[in-house]
Order: sequence, then C-alpha cells, then structure tokens
Amino acid sequence: MIVALIAASSLAAVIGIAAWKISSCREIDIKRFVINNIVVKLRLVKLLSMMGLTERMKSDKPVKFVTRSGIVYLAESPMFKVVVDHVWELDIRDSDVFVATYPKSGTTWMQEIVWLICNNADTDAAKQTVLTRRSPLMDLIDVGDTLGFQSIEKWPSDNQRIIKTHLPFELLPRGVVVGNKGKIVYVARNPKDVCVSYFHFHHMVFSCPKPGTWAEFLTNFSNGDVARGDWFAHTMKYWEEFQKDPSRIYITTYESLKADLPLEVKSIADFLGRDLSEEQINAIAEHCTFESMRNNKCTNHQGMNEAGMFDFSKVKFMRKGQIGDWKNYFTINQSAEFDDLFRKRLQGTGLESRFKL
Ligand code: A3P
Repeated sequence: MIVALIAASSLAAVIGIAAWKISSCREIDIKRFVINNIVVKLRLVKLLSMMGLTERMKSDKPVKFVTRSGIVYLAESPMFKVVVDHVWELDIRDSDVFVATYPKSGTTWMQEIVWLICNNADTDAAKQTVLTRRSPLMDLIDVGDTLGFQSIEKWPSDNQRIIKTHLPFELLPRGVVVGNKGKIVYVARNPKDVCVSYFHFHHMVFSCPKPGTWAEFLTNFSNGDVARGDWFAHTMKYWEEFQKDPSRIYITTYESLKADLPLEVKSIADFLGRDLSEEQINAIAEHCTFESMRNNKCTNHQGMNEAGMFDFSKVKFMRKGQIGDWKNYFTINQSAEFDDLFRKRLQGTGLESRFKL
C-alpha cells in the first residue's frame, strides 16, 4: 500500500514537473523540440514522401498572417509566424552580418562568400562543415542540420554571426531596424529569373505550397501572392535603406556577381572592413563558382537534408545558375506584361537600371 502511494506520488511529481517545464517553455522552443524529436528523428517527411502523401498534403496557398508588429506577411507555413514574432526581440551584436535576400536570388552563394571573407578565406574549413551550420537562418527554428533562431541566440560570443534571412527589412530585429546595429549584404536578382527559380523550388521543397502551373505561379508572383510576399516591396525597401546609409547596407545583384566575382568579393570585403590579399580574393572567387559550389556537399544542399525537407529527385538546389533562364519559360506576352509591371512599380527609384530585363 505504502509502496503504491509512493509510486503514485512520484509519478504525479514527475508529471507536474514536466507540465511546469512545458508551460514555462516558449512556443518556439516547443515547436523545435517536437519537430526535431519527432519529424526529423523518425524521418517522418521521408516516410510520407515514400507513401506519396507529401504532394497531397501541400497547401494550395501560402499562409498569410499578421505579425506582432501589425505587418501582414506571407510564408510557407504557420510556423513562420512564431519565429517572426520573436525575431524583433533578438539581441543583435555590432559584429553581426546579415545576408538578406528575396528567396532564389543567390542567398547561398552570398552566404558562402561572406563567410569566407569573415573567416580569412579559409576554404579548407568551409569544406569541413555544411553551410547551414556555419550560417544560420534567422526566419526558422533549428531544424536538423539547418541552424535557425535558437542557434543564433546561443551563438558563441567569440564567433561572428553570418545570418541568413529572407525577411523584409521592416521585420528584421529591432536592434537592426531601430538600433542600426550590424551590417547587411543584400542580393537582388532579375525578378524574371527569381520567379523561374522559385517555381522550381516550390516543386523541390515539401513545406512550400503547391506552385500550380507556370502561368498560375507567375500571376501569383507578380501579385505578391507567394510565400515571402512581394518581390518589388522587398527589394525597394532594402534599396531605400541602402540609400539612407550605404555604410550599413551593401546592395549588389546576382548579375554583378556573375559578371566579375573577384571584383565583388573585394568590394564586399571592403564594406565589411576586411583586408584580403589578391590571392585570398581569387581563392574565394574560385571556391564560389557555380560548378565548384554544385560539387561541394557543404554548399549544394544535398548534404543538408537531414530533415528530409527537399526532394532532389526532380530538381537540384544548384539547378542552372544562369542569367536569363526566364526566356525558356515566359511567353512573349507574359514577358511584356511583366516588363510593364516592373516599370510601373520601380519607376523613379533608380533601381530599375540595375537590371537588364
Ligand atoms: P537557379 O534555380 O536559377 O539555378 P538561393 O540560394 O537564394 O535559394 O538561390 C538559388 C539560386 O542561386 C539557384 O538558381 C542556384 O542555382 C543559384 N546559385 C547558387 N550558387 C550559385 C553560384 N555559385 N553561382 C551562380 N548561381 C548560383
């Protein structure tokens, strides 16, 4: 009888402590725990994919939500709301470098470049650890090998943070938006090529909504009705902020990186206050060519798929890496309509001359 009483009260105590621990956890950490211990460890996405269910489970549209700051945002899944609401309060260090982009603009490329610039062009070290472990993604919780919000919070203080984000400027942490801390390297890409690359990405990533046909996707992209929202608003806001303070924001284009990579590496290094030798600059440029990054398992995402979120059977992450692939997708009418929209939205901003449509 006494033994039963002791056992029952111990069990109650354990349940009580567990409940108290869970209730004192942030929702963002509970989500991280559940996803990593159930979805990732049990390989649930892979299992669902083998059963042919992932395609059917995809949503028809991106999730639209109002953030704590009142801004309406569109993302792949509701999980992003929890993260975005926390991002505003993230502690920012003066040494932080943000690689900010609209998706599919060359983010991975720029992360590798910036990481190398900030790490003495140590290409050997870069080949030892997958990029998603060296440069965390602020807009996501930690999922498997992709380090996210929690890792950024716990990042060792003697190690510079190279933070990837697709968030619009207004949703960056308060320390950046109001406190002017950290530096931002922004990459923009011809939106027609972005749209094509994003269309393929939607087929590759399980958490993205169904892309529909090419024509449907293009209409949604043009209307800003895709995950991560309106390309024009995203790019224009960073452009405006760059004009206010070019010592804090560096803007370049995918096309400029393609045109002269060593020149861009040098100019980004200058912006970040890093003095690199010509040899180091050339080493970075060589390490970061499309071919080299496509054959490198630390940058091509093949080796960063622990959570099973990517389906590389149809499309590879390092897909074509070209300028002008849009010509293989846009009809003459679609191209003319998009050019019209482009002119209307960017007229007078000075940004339009950065792209050759
Ligand atoms: P494509 O789909 O047109 O090939 P992000 O990293 O922002 O998701 O962007 C991915 C796009 O950048 C893909 O475009 C990918 O092939 C391209 N890319 C990645 N690394 C590159 C590199 N080193 N050189 C050129 N393009 C690169």
